[in-house]
Amino acid sequence: MGERQKCLFSDRLVLEPLAERHADAVVDLFADPAMSSLLGTDLSAPTLARRMVDDRLAYDGPPEPGHWAVLLDGDLVGLAHLRPSGELPDGLPEIGWYLAARHGGRGLATEAARALLRHGLDDLGLHSVWALVHVDNAPSLRLARRLGLLVVGEGHHDNGPHRVHVGLPGPV
Ligand SMILES: CC(C)(COP(=O)(O)OP(=O)(O)OC[C@H]1O[C@@H](n2cnc3c(N)ncnc32)[C@H](O)[C@@H]1OP(=O)(O)O)[C@@H](O)C(=O)NCCC(=O)NCCS
Repeated sequence: MGERQKCLFSDRLVLEPLAERHADAVVDLFADPAMSSLLGTDLSAPTLARRMVDDRLAYDGPPEPGHWAVLLDGDLVGLAHLRPSGELPDGLPEIGWYLAARHGGRGLATEAARALLRHGLDDLGLHSVWALVHVDNAPSLRLARRLGLLVVGEGHHDNGPHRVHVGLPGPV
């Protein structure tokens, strides 16, 4: 095991550990109300988005998981995380993904999420990676399916009913 969050690379994307230099671009990303419409809190107001970024920057869990900025050709187009869950028992590792709508429909969010999932399972040796997706979030449910995550149930999390997914080591 290393001691620091790593930069990840996929065919089209670079995932950089989230840092203060990404903050303005993340706030801009969430200016689109669609980004947070199913997250339970509207983050389209810059002050609220900035608070969300600050919360992420204040992450003080294990050093290798955390939050990542998703970059395409050097521009921030999304956000992703792999960190102990605040919703699931025992801080199970939870993954999440966000992509600017203008870059949607090309598989970029799936690519970022797959890189992070593989990093968690293959590099960090996690025994499982969990994803909670609101039952009304059809694009995100499709993404979870593309990743090969298993659906293991449904529960009330954050703002409502969420499908509970898990990714396990080994080929998908
Ligand atoms: C969830 C979210 C990231 C999904 O975005 P997306 O554009 O559907 O996802 P991708 O970038 O992976 O693109 C997948 C789409 O591109 C298509 N596609 C085209 N080329 C592709 C490729 N090379 N690989 C995979 N998919 C490809 C897929 O068929 C898919 O379309 P479909 O869902 O209509 O079948 C996005 O809607 C979002 O950020 N929502 C707001 C934040 C949010 O809700 N996050 C999730 C919280 S759980």
